[in-house]
Amino acid sequence: MEKKNIDWANLGFGYIKTDYRYVSNFKEGAWDAGVITEDDKVVLSECAGVLQYAQTCFEGLKAYTTEDGKIVCFRPDLNAERMEDSAKRLEMPVFPKERFIDAVVQVVKANAAFVPPYGSGATLYIRPYMFGSNPVIGVKPADEYQFRILTTPVGPYFKGGAKPITIKVSDFDRAAPHGTGHIKAGLNYAMSLHAIVTAHEEGFAENMYLDAATRTKVEETGGANFIFVTKDNKVVTPKSSSILPSITRRSLLYVAKEYLGLEVEEREVFFDEVKDFAECGLCGTAAVVSPVGKIVDHGKEICFPAGMEKMGPTTQKLYDTLTGIQMGRIEAPEGWIKVIE
Ligand code: PLP
Ligand code: COI
Repeated sequence: MEKKNIDWANLGFGYIKTDYRYVSNFKEGAWDAGVITEDDKVVLSECAGVLQYAQTCFEGLKAYTTEDGKIVCFRPDLNAERMEDSAKRLEMPVFPKERFIDAVVQVVKANAAFVPPYGSGATLYIRPYMFGSNPVIGVKPADEYQFRILTTPVGPYFKGGAKPITIKVSDFDRAAPHGTGHIKAGLNYAMSLHAIVTAHEEGFAENMYLDAATRTKVEETGGANFIFVTKDNKVVTPKSSSILPSITRRSLLYVAKEYLGLEVEEREVFFDEVKDFAECGLCGTAAVVSPVGKIVDHGKEICFPAGMEKMGPTTQKLYDTLTGIQMGRIEAPEGWIKVIE
């Protein structure tokens, strides 16, 4: 198969239309068989549930070309499970896990020419999503839904790739206790747009959100969880019921413990203790492991010892091991890698 003529090494994190996408419709209580289609347009009622009350959720995962030339993706079963949680919380029907994984395989296979080559630094981002499609005007769930998967080749989420970023402590809250912070609902991102535009205008790459109830604890950013490294080399990550349970973070904790022999702690992290950490990073499918060099809290700066040019040593080891597993250079734990072709 011939790859598309794309400048893989210089891709940013943007949308490039690929040739195929997957579509399945839910009507009268059941999902149809689903198809791979070239049609990238969605035609909806003007009163569709998604347009009126934002009834939509999504997922994000990636396909990689491994060192030995296979196309694989990383833990798609966990994305299927998380989308099930999102759907249930939003009163949407569940797209069954086995079908979710099969649809990912079908759409990546169809778009194999867009899967960036090994070593290019780029990957194929896979975006499953679902939305209420029939007319809804009283506040209630839709009866009909569409599940789709689009794919797009991407480079690094943050400009500069693996260079440390500067983030700010946000004055906005991302998620309320007992709200929807733990699921991947479109509404969580809609309400973060003003905060991220504001942060970008002020020269910051991302926001650090604090817990909405007390504003004393670290939650996450708009699109990634935090990992910290203590001065005695323990990996610490915030525990909260209002953050997204990142698959990357769960994988990194396992990697830290089982591959690198590090102690790991998932616990409440108070903002006051952040200044004492040795390293800070963001983790997520899009972010991979992105080092944070500086956190600014209303003019007060927290600067991490590795500086603004390179990752801290433990963050680098976590990054190297995780990406090594994803790209087939390091043996993966059982079940982590789904071979597509
Ligand atoms: N937190 C938020 C708010 C996200 O949008 C994402 C991205 O999916 C993550 C964390 C990281 O999750 P994952 O590692 O499963 O991609
Ligand atoms: C992902 O990492 O897959 C996400 O959905 C985060 C988003 C900010 C791009």
